[in-house]
Amino acid sequence: MRDNRLCSLLGIEYPIIQAPMNWITGADLAAAVSNAGGLGTLGPNAGARTLTKDVNETGERLRQQIRKVKTLTRKPFAVNFPMGAGDAEGEGGAFCQRCVELALEEGISAAITSVGPPNVYTKVFKDAGVKVLHAVSTASQARKAEQAGVDAVICEGYEGGGYKALTELSTMTLIPMTADAVKIVVVAAGGIADARGMAAALALGADGVCVGPRFMATHECDAHP
Ligand SMILES: Cc1cc2nc3c(=O)[nH]c(=O)nc-3n(C[C@H](O)[C@H](O)[C@H](O)COP(=O)(O)O)c2cc1C
Repeated sequence: MRDNRLCSLLGIEYPIIQAPMNWITGADLAAAVSNAGGLGTLGPNAGARTLTKDVNETGERLRQQIRKVKTLTRKPFAVNFPMGAGDAEGEGGAFCQRCVELALEEGISAAITSVGPPNVYTKVFKDAGVKVLHAVSTASQARKAEQAGVDAVICEGYEGGGYKALTELSTMTLIPMTADAVKIVVVAAGGIADARGMAAALALGADGVCVGPRFMATHECDAHP
């Protein structure tokens, strides 16, 4: 899709992003999606098989996953940084901060920031040449993200798995509201699982789609069969 804004922004062939899904979206899945022409994404706990409250252990695990993706593909891929998520005590900020630091050390081309405001990490990523896609659930959040300098918003409707917001706007209403509200690239998420859903999202004004659980039905996904 040569003239597609999301493809141009990320240097990918198809405007399809594999959504981050915590530990089940590891290096094998991210690399397979990127090799197929979409954008694969490492979840924040990619590669985890046990629970840990150790920030450094979490960080080093993510570092190994980033390195593994790079052995499996030369195509662009993303890493997810949920600002609020982390451990049971709500100390997600420290986990996220460490993961951002090491991702910058390792070198990544795209970051998906979520569960938090857009002004925390956008500048640090942009200064390092990393494209920033920020998850939002309302048009006003999308405007805020645009003002903060992100490259794209992922507008996530209430249908989305692991829904993170307090609002209940459905994907079908959120896409046109967001597309009208901002000039930057708009990616639609929430309930999109096949070509018809993707066509509908593009018709409503999205530049591309971000798809989660559909990718569970792959051999590369780390979800239990
Ligand atoms: C099992 C599961 C885990 C998820 N984990 C994360 C996560 O770690 N970080 C995040 O930003 N979003 C997470 N999400 C949300 C997805 O990234 C994505 O926005 C959503 O799945 C898109 O809608 P869909 O489920 O209808 O495809 C998760 C979703 C699911 C289903």
